[in-house]
Amino acid sequence: MPEKILILDFGSQYTQLIARRVRELNVYCEIYPYNHVPALTDDVKGVILSGSPCSVRDAEHPTIDLNHYMGKLPLLGVCYGAQLIAHELHGEVTPSTIREYGRARLAELHTTNRLMKELTLGSQVWMSHGDTIKEIPINFEVIASTDTVRVAAYKLRDQETYGIQFHPEVTHSEEGKTLLRNFVVHICGCTQDWTSEQFIDSTVAELQQTLGNDKVVLGLSGGVDSSVAAMLIHQAIGKNLYCIFVDNGLLRKDEFENVLDSYKHMGLNVKGVDAKNKFYSALAGLTDPEAKRKAIGRVFIEVFDEEAHQIEDVKWLAQGTIYPDVIESVSVKGPSATIKSHHNVGGLPDFMKLKVVEPLKTLFKDEVRLVGRTLKIDEAILGRHPFPGPGLAIRILGDITAEKVHILQQVDHIFISNLKKTGLYDEVWQAGAILLPVQSVGVMGDERTYENVVALRAVTSVDGMTADWSRLPYEFLADVSNEIINKVKGVNRVVYDISSKPPATIEWE
Ligand code: XMP
Repeated sequence: MPEKILILDFGSQYTQLIARRVRELNVYCEIYPYNHVPALTDDVKGVILSGSPCSVRDAEHPTIDLNHYMGKLPLLGVCYGAQLIAHELHGEVTPSTIREYGRARLAELHTTNRLMKELTLGSQVWMSHGDTIKEIPINFEVIASTDTVRVAAYKLRDQETYGIQFHPEVTHSEEGKTLLRNFVVHICGCTQDWTSEQFIDSTVAELQQTLGNDKVVLGLSGGVDSSVAAMLIHQAIGKNLYCIFVDNGLLRKDEFENVLDSYKHMGLNVKGVDAKNKFYSALAGLTDPEAKRKAIGRVFIEVFDEEAHQIEDVKWLAQGTIYPDVIESVSVKGPSATIKSHHNVGGLPDFMKLKVVEPLKTLFKDEVRLVGRTLKIDEAILGRHPFPGPGLAIRILGDITAEKVHILQQVDHIFISNLKKTGLYDEVWQAGAILLPVQSVGVMGDERTYENVVALRAVTSVDGMTADWSRLPYEFLADVSNEIINKVKGVNRVVYDISSKPPATIEWE
């Protein structure tokens, strides 16, 4: 078991960021809701208490028994976490009289303190809180202040318990990473040996142990997660991993063939299944987005189940579930929980009676990419934009026909290949085209046309929860629009979506 840091989540929107920063230091950590923390084991080297949308002054504020941790393990309270420790030990937490939100600068600093080592006076920190610690309990010492916040950081004199009012995990805190390193490395004593190589070695060994000679089935999607999961399991059990890649007729142009080819080159034991017509029949006449999603989900399960049954004695179902899917489903109630609920935790049917193996369920997306790179998976797979499970079905507004799919595939292909050609692809988080159920008048040569409108969508984002439309150069948009109208029969107008999320969403359905 690797040594680890526990992060207790009180519902802050930044909790996952704390975990990512700790892991960037090559230290493994896990997030638990404050009210579902497992018993401490020897591998736990320290504990971090997150921020929260709540106030310790509320009667019903989330709390924990601090005696479990204080004096036994190094403890760091961040924002609400710091206020909670101060409050529980009879300090005074009051509403801030000034707005303590945004940038502030460290105006006083005890660099002899281990948490503050190598931080510099004047360094910018990020504040985001409605309460402030007015009085610290006896036996606490202030180890950093800003111009307006006296207790920006504190320490208990006789033990390794710390509190900081600012957020070291956000990049606006210029030396936040140094502070977190001080905590996890110098105070908790973690050895920073958690790397992608180490993850691969230990996961492969674990998979060999768990799976033995059993057969495993896995559904590939062409995306990063399922591909990396497949390669890891392949390293562990080779040909006993049976991969299924379904063509639902809703993928990008030539994607099924190209991706299947890459998978074969990677040495995977993969079966490509052409189920286009099954999906088109199930979708015929459906216009409601949720009905389309349900039909696609149902047919996928049918096809997958039928294929899996042909693998004699298969015992396991492998899934590319990643850490955000796991922690989102147990997050404490609070503003961050409601923003997060999302689509990707699909789930296959119980009736297959397979045991589930999820080798990536402790990793964040960027860590999955890193593992993929270490496993030498094709960059074209690792660097791909996210693509929704229901594919082009939710980018064709209204009912789906093979002809509409064909039109949209050509439009999408022109847009995406131009993004790649001009080097803009990696600047954009996700891009695609939408076929609108609208015809408009145009003129081509001497002829009046009455044809389809397509919308182009490109967004910048960090995680898809919020997004802004990409400021693609006009010249680029002009070229793409010309190429689409000249080459794609049935389209005579191109528009660009300039809505941000919220209030719009990335997809149109
Ligand atoms: P929205 O449209 O909600 O999309 O802003 C956020 C991210 O989720 C993807 N998305 C889906 N992914 N099944 C999926 O697997 C779906 O039904 C689905 N709907 C949206 C979307 O492409 C974007 O990356």
